[in-house]
Amino acid sequence: MQKIGVLTGGGDCPGINPVLRAVVISAMQKKYKVIGILDGWKGLLEKSYVELGLDSVDDIINKGGTILGTSRTNPYKIEGGPEKCKKNAKALNIDALIAIGGEDTLGVATKLYKDGINVVGVPKTIDNDLAATDYTFGFDTSVNIAMEAIDRLHTTSESHHRIMVVEIMGRHAGWIALFAGVAGGADIVLIPEIPIDMDEVVKILKQRRKNGKKYGIVAVAEGATFKDKSFIIQKEKLDSFGHVRLGGIGELLGSKIEELTGFETRVTVLGHLQRGGSPTAADRVLGSRFGIGAVKLVEKKKFGRMVSLSGNEIIDVPLEKAVGKLKTVNPEFYELAKTFSESGR
Ligand code: F6P
Repeated sequence: MQKIGVLTGGGDCPGINPVLRAVVISAMQKKYKVIGILDGWKGLLEKSYVELGLDSVDDIINKGGTILGTSRTNPYKIEGGPEKCKKNAKALNIDALIAIGGEDTLGVATKLYKDGINVVGVPKTIDNDLAATDYTFGFDTSVNIAMEAIDRLHTTSESHHRIMVVEIMGRHAGWIALFAGVAGGADIVLIPEIPIDMDEVVKILKQRRKNGKKYGIVAVAEGATFKDKSFIIQKEKLDSFGHVRLGGIGELLGSKIEELTGFETRVTVLGHLQRGGSPTAADRVLGSRFGIGAVKLVEKKKFGRMVSLSGNEIIDVPLEKAVGKLKTVNPEFYELAKTFSESGR
């Protein structure tokens, strides 16, 4: 009988539990055993796990977070980490390991596959920045949360004749800010891919005032930076993948807008609100399809591969292709936001 181990690593994301539910249900139908490794790669290093059966995944399709817990542990940053992972996978009699994660978790999965573990990947991240898949689950939920926040900020912004800056997640890619900004009718969308030009921001906001719009919404991705390199935020905390703890761009941008325009400006940081709570229907369905797809890859012994969404089809791609390069917002997509900004309305 086959035994599958499944783990979730990196930031949590709405839609993980639907993946886990689908993995367990489809694995049971094939008479496989499933264990859940707790807290990402940390669990494999420490051999901490739970047996997963149909009861474990009852009523979790609508639940955010991950029932297995997660961490940002990188075994390749720990002495003897990869060897320990290999040894423990063997000791746990795991025939295949399903790793649900983003760039970092799947980067580790790719290396462990090369080091001899039978790994299959499932793409997860609210940021939607994983290459080799059209979309990741979690993205749709976070876009909808951010869009709703923008809608709410709109009405208060209008009543008080204020500019509202809303800081949205997105470390390297501005997909969430772009989609939520466009859907929420933000006046300006600022993303990590394009350094912020304050002259342009001021011009658009002033033009709006001239057009009689005394309020405005500026959506900024937390990973955005300024064209003027003297505008920086000091960040020191690093995780084990070397990423700084982001946050603070909204405050800096808000104070610059107020200083340069004289318009009252307030800032809202959405932070982890965008990752919590129930997944949308789209993320539940995508997560379920990915989970079933991952078990099919195990059945076919297609290791070192990741399930992926291509158009409306679930396909599989080499893990290596997914982690080599991030999928950032391309200029054509950004045009979408610019078209509305430049209208001055
Ligand atoms: O990778 C997803 C993400 O939510 C990013 O948008 C954000 O920068 C990061 O995780 C935050 O991570 P943490 O939960 O460690 O604060």
